[in-house]
Amino acid sequence: MSSTILLEQELTQANTLGLPCRAERFAAPATLGELRDLLSLAQDRDWPLTVLGGGSNLILPERLPGLAIQPALRYWWLESQDNQTLVHVGAGVEWHPLVMALARRGLWGVENLALIPGHCGAAPIQNIGAYGVELCDVVAAVQVLFLDTGRPVTLTPEECAFGYRDSLFKGELQGRVVITGLTLRLSRTPQPRLAYGDLAQRVTANPTPLSIAEAVCSIRREKLPDPAILHNAGSFFKNPVVPPGQAQALLATSPDMPYFPLKDGHVKLAAGWLIDQCGLKGWRQDHFGVHERQALVLVHFGGGSADELLAFAEQVAAIVADRFGVVLEREPRLA
Ligand code: EPU
Repeated sequence: MSSTILLEQELTQANTLGLPCRAERFAAPATLGELRDLLSLAQDRDWPLTVLGGGSNLILPERLPGLAIQPALRYWWLESQDNQTLVHVGAGVEWHPLVMALARRGLWGVENLALIPGHCGAAPIQNIGAYGVELCDVVAAVQVLFLDTGRPVTLTPEECAFGYRDSLFKGELQGRVVITGLTLRLSRTPQPRLAYGDLAQRVTANPTPLSIAEAVCSIRREKLPDPAILHNAGSFFKNPVVPPGQAQALLATSPDMPYFPLKDGHVKLAAGWLIDQCGLKGWRQDHFGVHERQALVLVHFGGGSADELLAFAEQVAAIVADRFGVVLEREPRLA
Protein backbone atom coordinates (compact mmCIF):
# COMPACT_ATOMS: atom_id res chain seq x y z
CA MET A 1 0.00 0.00 0.00
CA SER A 2 1.26 3.49 -0.68
CA SER A 3 1.01 6.49 1.65
CA THR A 4 -1.59 9.14 1.03
CA ILE A 5 -0.05 12.49 0.11
CA LEU A 6 -2.07 15.36 1.53
CA LEU A 7 -1.88 18.73 -0.22
CA GLU A 8 -1.56 22.04 1.62
CA GLN A 9 -1.58 20.30 4.99
CA GLU A 10 -1.94 22.56 8.02
CA LEU A 11 0.88 21.84 10.52
CA THR A 12 0.09 24.53 13.11
CA GLN A 13 -1.27 21.89 15.53
CA ALA A 14 1.65 19.59 14.70
CA ASN A 15 4.37 21.74 16.29
CA THR A 16 4.36 22.38 20.04
CA LEU A 17 5.39 26.02 19.47
CA GLY A 18 2.07 26.44 17.62
CA LEU A 19 3.73 28.40 14.80
CA PRO A 20 1.55 28.77 11.71
CA CYS A 21 2.77 26.40 9.01
CA ARG A 22 1.42 24.73 5.91
CA ALA A 23 3.18 21.91 4.05
CA GLU A 24 2.83 21.86 0.27
CA ARG A 25 2.62 18.05 0.54
CA PHE A 26 2.52 15.85 3.64
CA ALA A 27 2.68 12.11 4.19
CA ALA A 28 2.93 9.85 7.24
CA PRO A 29 4.35 6.52 6.00
CA ALA A 30 3.48 3.59 8.28
CA THR A 31 5.98 1.11 6.83
CA LEU A 32 9.57 1.20 5.61
CA GLY A 33 8.31 0.30 2.12
CA GLU A 34 5.98 3.32 2.06
CA LEU A 35 8.78 5.55 3.33
CA ARG A 36 11.15 4.31 0.62
CA ASP A 37 8.52 4.88 -2.09
CA LEU A 38 8.02 8.46 -0.88
CA LEU A 39 11.77 9.13 -0.85
CA SER A 40 12.15 7.92 -4.43
CA LEU A 41 9.09 9.91 -5.55
CA ALA A 42 10.54 13.06 -3.97
CA GLN A 43 13.86 12.31 -5.65
CA ASP A 44 12.20 11.82 -9.09
CA ARG A 45 10.12 15.00 -8.78
CA ASP A 46 12.90 17.05 -7.22
CA TRP A 47 10.75 17.91 -4.19
CA PRO A 48 12.64 19.36 -1.21
CA LEU A 49 12.16 17.01 1.77
CA THR A 50 11.49 17.84 5.41
CA VAL A 51 11.38 15.08 8.00
CA LEU A 52 9.17 15.79 11.01
CA GLY A 53 9.04 14.01 14.37
CA GLY A 54 6.59 15.00 17.08
CA GLY A 55 7.24 18.69 16.33
CA SER A 56 8.38 19.41 19.88
CA ASN A 57 11.86 20.72 19.11
CA LEU A 58 11.24 22.39 15.81
CA ILE A 59 10.79 25.92 14.46
CA LEU A 60 8.64 25.73 11.35
CA PRO A 61 8.44 28.37 8.60
CA GLU A 62 5.04 29.53 7.36
CA ARG A 63 5.32 27.30 4.31
CA LEU A 64 7.21 24.05 3.78
CA PRO A 65 7.70 23.53 0.04
CA GLY A 66 8.04 20.04 -1.48
CA LEU A 67 7.20 17.08 0.74
CA ALA A 68 7.07 16.89 4.54
CA ILE A 69 7.30 13.34 5.90
CA GLN A 70 6.34 12.31 9.42
CA PRO A 71 7.34 8.66 9.86
CA ALA A 72 4.47 6.74 11.49
CA LEU A 73 6.52 3.59 12.17
CA ARG A 74 4.82 2.71 15.45
CA TYR A 75 6.12 -0.72 16.49
CA TRP A 76 8.16 -1.64 19.53
CA TRP A 77 9.26 -5.00 20.90
CA LEU A 78 11.59 -6.41 23.51
CA GLU A 79 14.47 -8.84 23.09
CA SER A 80 15.95 -10.43 26.24
CA GLN A 81 19.71 -10.87 26.45
CA ASP A 82 20.89 -12.27 29.82
CA ASN A 83 20.22 -9.49 32.35
CA GLN A 84 19.75 -6.91 29.64
CA THR A 85 16.77 -6.17 27.48
CA LEU A 86 17.00 -4.67 24.03
CA VAL A 87 14.07 -2.50 23.02
CA HIS A 88 13.53 -2.20 19.28
CA VAL A 89 11.41 0.87 18.57
CA GLY A 90 10.10 2.57 15.44
CA ALA A 91 10.70 6.28 14.81
CA GLY A 92 7.00 7.16 15.05
CA VAL A 93 6.51 5.86 18.61
CA GLU A 94 5.88 8.62 21.15
CA TRP A 95 8.77 8.82 23.62
CA HIS A 96 6.99 9.43 26.93
CA PRO A 97 4.35 6.64 26.76
CA LEU A 98 7.18 4.26 25.78
CA VAL A 99 9.24 5.34 28.82
CA MET A 100 6.27 4.72 31.12
CA ALA A 101 5.54 1.31 29.56
CA LEU A 102 9.19 0.26 30.01
CA ALA A 103 9.33 1.61 33.57
CA ARG A 104 6.14 -0.34 34.42
CA ARG A 105 7.89 -3.50 33.23
CA GLY A 106 10.67 -2.83 35.76
CA LEU A 107 13.30 -2.05 33.12
CA TRP A 108 16.03 0.43 34.16
CA GLY A 109 17.60 3.03 31.90
CA VAL A 110 15.12 5.59 30.57
CA GLU A 111 13.10 6.46 33.72
CA ASN A 112 14.91 9.82 34.17
CA LEU A 113 13.81 10.77 30.64
CA ALA A 114 10.07 10.65 31.42
CA LEU A 115 7.73 13.35 30.10
CA ILE A 116 10.06 14.53 27.33
CA PRO A 117 7.69 15.30 24.44
CA GLY A 118 8.29 14.06 20.91
CA HIS A 119 8.77 10.92 18.85
CA CYS A 120 11.52 8.33 19.34
CA GLY A 121 12.95 9.10 15.88
CA ALA A 122 13.84 12.64 16.98
CA ALA A 123 15.44 11.59 20.28
CA PRO A 124 18.93 10.87 18.87
CA ILE A 125 19.10 14.14 16.90
CA GLN A 126 19.54 16.32 19.97
CA ASN A 127 20.57 13.39 22.23
CA ILE A 128 17.68 14.14 24.58
CA GLY A 129 18.74 14.42 28.20
CA ALA A 130 17.36 15.22 31.63
CA TYR A 131 18.10 14.57 35.31
CA GLY A 132 21.62 13.27 34.71
CA VAL A 133 20.82 10.84 31.87
CA GLU A 134 21.15 11.26 28.12
CA LEU A 135 19.83 9.07 25.33
CA CYS A 136 23.44 8.11 24.48
CA ASP A 137 23.69 6.32 27.86
CA VAL A 138 21.07 3.78 26.77
CA VAL A 139 21.07 3.68 22.97
CA ALA A 140 22.61 0.59 21.34
CA ALA A 141 21.93 1.44 17.68
CA VAL A 142 20.14 3.93 15.41
CA GLN A 143 18.61 2.81 12.11
CA VAL A 144 18.42 5.30 9.22
CA LEU A 145 17.57 5.46 5.52
CA PHE A 146 19.58 7.73 3.26
CA LEU A 147 17.27 10.24 1.59
CA ASP A 148 18.98 10.14 -1.81
CA THR A 149 19.29 6.38 -2.29
CA GLY A 150 16.87 4.88 0.28
CA ARG A 151 19.82 2.79 1.57
CA PRO A 152 19.29 1.45 5.13
CA VAL A 153 22.21 1.78 7.56
CA THR A 154 22.49 0.88 11.24
CA LEU A 155 24.76 3.23 13.18
CA THR A 156 26.56 2.41 16.40
CA PRO A 157 26.43 4.95 19.26
CA GLU A 158 30.10 5.85 18.52
CA GLU A 159 29.24 6.57 14.89
CA CYS A 160 26.38 8.84 16.05
CA ALA A 161 28.99 11.14 17.71
CA PHE A 162 26.65 12.04 20.56
CA GLY A 163 27.44 15.13 22.63
CA TYR A 164 25.45 17.44 24.90
CA ARG A 165 22.27 18.17 22.87
CA ASP A 166 24.27 17.19 19.79
CA SER A 167 24.91 14.32 17.34
CA LEU A 168 25.99 13.48 13.80
CA PHE A 169 22.34 14.07 12.79
CA LYS A 170 22.82 17.79 13.55
CA GLY A 171 26.18 17.73 11.72
CA GLU A 172 27.39 15.62 8.81
CA LEU A 173 24.11 13.71 8.39
CA GLN A 174 21.81 16.74 8.70
CA GLY A 175 19.31 16.68 5.83
CA ARG A 176 20.79 13.42 4.48
CA VAL A 177 18.98 10.69 6.41
CA VAL A 178 15.66 9.87 8.00
CA ILE A 179 15.85 8.02 11.31
CA THR A 180 13.60 4.97 11.11
CA GLY A 181 14.23 3.28 14.45
CA LEU A 182 16.33 2.88 17.59
CA THR A 183 17.56 0.06 19.74
CA LEU A 184 17.77 0.80 23.47
CA ARG A 185 19.75 -1.32 25.92
CA LEU A 186 17.96 -1.49 29.30
CA SER A 187 18.67 -3.52 32.40
CA ARG A 188 16.75 -5.58 34.95
CA THR A 189 19.43 -4.82 37.58
CA PRO A 190 18.50 -1.80 39.72
CA GLN A 191 20.57 1.24 38.78
CA PRO A 192 18.87 4.38 40.10
CA ARG A 193 20.53 7.63 39.02
CA LEU A 194 19.38 10.24 41.50
CA ALA A 195 22.35 12.63 41.74
CA TYR A 196 20.77 15.48 39.70
CA GLY A 197 19.20 18.37 41.62
CA ASP A 198 16.60 17.38 44.19
CA LEU A 199 15.57 14.13 42.46
CA ALA A 200 16.86 11.98 45.38
CA GLN A 201 14.58 13.87 47.81
CA ARG A 202 11.60 13.29 45.57
CA VAL A 203 11.72 9.47 45.40
CA THR A 204 10.80 6.93 48.06
CA ALA A 205 13.28 4.42 49.57
CA ASN A 206 13.96 1.42 47.30
CA PRO A 207 12.94 3.27 44.17
CA THR A 208 11.70 1.46 41.10
CA PRO A 209 11.97 2.69 37.50
CA LEU A 210 8.28 3.62 37.78
CA SER A 211 8.64 5.61 41.03
CA ILE A 212 11.60 7.52 39.55
CA ALA A 213 9.72 8.21 36.29
CA GLU A 214 6.76 9.49 38.33
CA ALA A 215 9.03 11.76 40.42
CA VAL A 216 10.61 13.16 37.24
CA CYS A 217 7.12 13.80 35.83
CA SER A 218 6.09 15.70 38.93
CA ILE A 219 9.25 17.88 38.91
CA ARG A 220 8.83 18.62 35.20
CA ARG A 221 5.12 19.46 35.65
CA GLU A 222 6.06 21.98 38.35
CA LYS A 223 8.73 23.73 36.27
CA LEU A 224 7.88 23.32 32.62
CA PRO A 225 4.82 24.62 30.78
CA ASP A 226 2.59 21.97 29.19
CA PRO A 227 2.70 22.65 25.42
CA ALA A 228 -0.96 21.59 25.19
CA ILE A 229 -1.80 24.65 27.31
CA LEU A 230 0.99 27.13 26.49
CA HIS A 231 2.96 26.69 23.26
CA ASN A 232 6.69 26.04 23.76
CA ALA A 233 9.55 23.80 22.63
CA GLY A 234 11.13 23.03 26.00
CA SER A 235 14.56 24.59 26.53
CA PHE A 236 15.03 27.22 23.85
CA PHE A 237 18.77 27.56 24.55
CA LYS A 238 21.48 25.03 25.26
CA ASN A 239 23.30 25.36 28.54
CA PRO A 240 26.50 27.16 27.49
CA VAL A 241 29.86 25.45 27.92
CA VAL A 242 32.69 27.87 28.74
CA PRO A 243 36.46 27.58 29.40
CA PRO A 244 37.42 27.20 33.10
CA GLY A 245 38.94 30.72 33.26
CA GLN A 246 35.68 32.33 32.15
CA ALA A 247 33.70 30.28 34.68
CA GLN A 248 36.08 31.34 37.47
CA ALA A 249 35.78 34.99 36.50
CA LEU A 250 31.97 34.73 36.57
CA LEU A 251 32.03 32.93 39.93
CA ALA A 252 34.20 35.69 41.38
CA THR A 253 31.38 38.18 40.81
CA SER A 254 28.43 35.73 41.12
CA PRO A 255 29.46 33.11 43.73
CA ASP A 256 25.96 31.57 43.79
CA MET A 257 26.01 30.78 40.04
CA PRO A 258 25.15 27.10 39.36
CA TYR A 259 27.89 25.34 37.35
CA PHE A 260 28.77 21.81 36.30
CA PRO A 261 32.45 20.98 35.62
CA LEU A 262 32.84 18.67 32.61
CA LYS A 263 35.37 15.86 32.20
CA ASP A 264 37.41 17.85 29.66
CA GLY A 265 37.91 20.78 32.08
CA HIS A 266 35.25 23.02 30.51
CA VAL A 267 32.34 24.19 32.63
CA LYS A 268 28.65 24.01 31.77
CA LEU A 269 26.57 26.94 33.02
CA ALA A 270 22.79 27.10 33.49
CA ALA A 271 21.32 29.27 30.72
CA GLY A 272 18.05 29.49 32.70
CA TRP A 273 19.92 30.99 35.66
CA LEU A 274 21.75 33.52 33.44
CA ILE A 275 18.48 34.65 31.81
CA ASP A 276 16.75 34.74 35.19
CA GLN A 277 19.54 36.91 36.67
CA CYS A 278 18.96 39.43 33.89
CA GLY A 279 15.43 39.84 35.28
CA LEU A 280 13.86 38.34 32.16
CA LYS A 281 11.68 35.64 33.73
CA GLY A 282 8.12 36.43 32.70
CA TRP A 283 9.29 39.11 30.21
CA ARG A 284 6.81 39.37 27.32
CA GLN A 285 6.91 41.14 24.00
CA ASP A 286 3.79 40.83 21.85
CA HIS A 287 3.25 37.15 21.08
CA PHE A 288 6.31 35.66 22.79
CA GLY A 289 7.71 35.57 26.30
CA VAL A 290 10.18 34.03 28.72
CA HIS A 291 8.35 31.44 30.83
CA GLU A 292 7.62 32.67 34.35
CA ARG A 293 8.82 29.51 36.13
CA GLN A 294 11.73 28.37 33.90
CA ALA A 295 13.64 31.11 32.09
CA LEU A 296 15.18 28.65 29.62
CA VAL A 297 11.80 28.13 27.97
CA LEU A 298 10.37 30.65 25.53
CA VAL A 299 6.60 30.56 25.19
CA HIS A 300 4.26 31.54 22.35
CA PHE A 301 0.98 33.16 23.40
CA GLY A 302 -0.48 32.73 19.89
CA GLY A 303 -0.60 34.88 16.79
CA GLY A 304 3.18 35.10 16.28
CA SER A 305 5.55 33.90 13.57
CA ALA A 306 8.88 32.06 13.47
CA ASP A 307 10.69 35.28 12.50
CA GLU A 308 9.26 37.12 15.51
CA LEU A 309 10.25 34.23 17.78
CA LEU A 310 13.83 34.26 16.46
CA ALA A 311 14.03 38.04 16.91
CA PHE A 312 12.72 37.74 20.48
CA ALA A 313 15.26 34.99 21.26
CA GLU A 314 18.04 37.17 19.84
CA GLN A 315 17.08 39.95 22.23
CA VAL A 316 17.21 37.55 25.20
CA ALA A 317 20.61 36.23 24.09
CA ALA A 318 21.94 39.77 23.54
CA ILE A 319 20.93 40.85 27.07
CA VAL A 320 22.69 37.79 28.55
CA ALA A 321 25.80 38.37 26.38
CA ASP A 322 25.88 42.00 27.48
CA ARG A 323 25.63 41.20 31.20
CA PHE A 324 27.71 38.00 31.43
CA GLY A 325 29.74 37.84 28.18
CA VAL A 326 28.26 34.36 27.55
CA VAL A 327 26.87 33.37 24.14
CA LEU A 328 23.61 31.41 24.19
CA GLU A 329 22.98 28.95 21.36
CA ARG A 330 19.52 28.03 20.14
CA GLU A 331 18.38 24.47 20.93
CA PRO A 332 15.31 23.74 18.70
CA ARG A 333 16.06 23.08 15.04
CA LEU A 334 14.88 25.21 12.13
CA ALA A 335 12.93 23.11 9.61
N1 EPU B 1 17.62 28.17 37.17
C1 EPU B 1 17.28 29.43 37.60
N2 EPU B 1 16.25 30.08 36.99
C2 EPU B 1 15.56 29.52 35.97
C3 EPU B 1 15.91 28.24 35.51
C4 EPU B 1 16.95 27.58 36.13
O1 EPU B 1 17.89 29.96 38.53
O2 EPU B 1 14.64 30.18 35.46
C5 EPU B 1 18.71 27.45 37.84
C6 EPU B 1 18.15 26.32 38.70
O3 EPU B 1 17.79 26.75 39.98
C7 EPU B 1 19.32 25.35 38.73
C8 EPU B 1 19.97 25.55 37.36
O4 EPU B 1 19.54 26.82 36.88
O5 EPU B 1 20.23 25.73 39.72
C9 EPU B 1 19.62 24.45 36.38
O6 EPU B 1 18.21 24.42 36.26
P1 EPU B 1 17.42 23.04 35.99
O7 EPU B 1 17.91 21.96 36.87
O8 EPU B 1 15.96 23.34 36.00
O9 EPU B 1 17.87 22.60 34.57
P2 EPU B 1 18.18 23.42 33.24
O10 EPU B 1 19.64 23.52 33.09
O11 EPU B 1 17.42 24.70 33.28
C10 EPU B 1 18.29 21.26 31.79
C11 EPU B 1 17.77 20.80 30.46
C12 EPU B 1 16.29 20.44 30.58
C13 EPU B 1 16.17 19.31 31.60
C14 EPU B 1 16.75 19.79 32.95
C15 EPU B 1 16.80 18.69 33.98
C16 EPU B 1 19.07 21.91 28.76
C17 EPU B 1 19.10 22.94 27.68
N3 EPU B 1 17.95 21.82 29.45
O12 EPU B 1 17.59 22.45 32.13
O13 EPU B 1 15.87 19.94 29.32
O14 EPU B 1 14.82 18.92 31.78
O15 EPU B 1 18.12 20.23 32.75
O16 EPU B 1 17.79 17.77 33.62
O17 EPU B 1 20.04 21.18 28.92
C18 EPU B 1 14.80 20.48 27.23
O18 EPU B 1 15.86 20.17 26.67
O19 EPU B 1 13.80 20.88 26.58
C19 EPU B 1 14.73 20.44 28.70
C20 EPU B 1 13.66 20.87 29.35
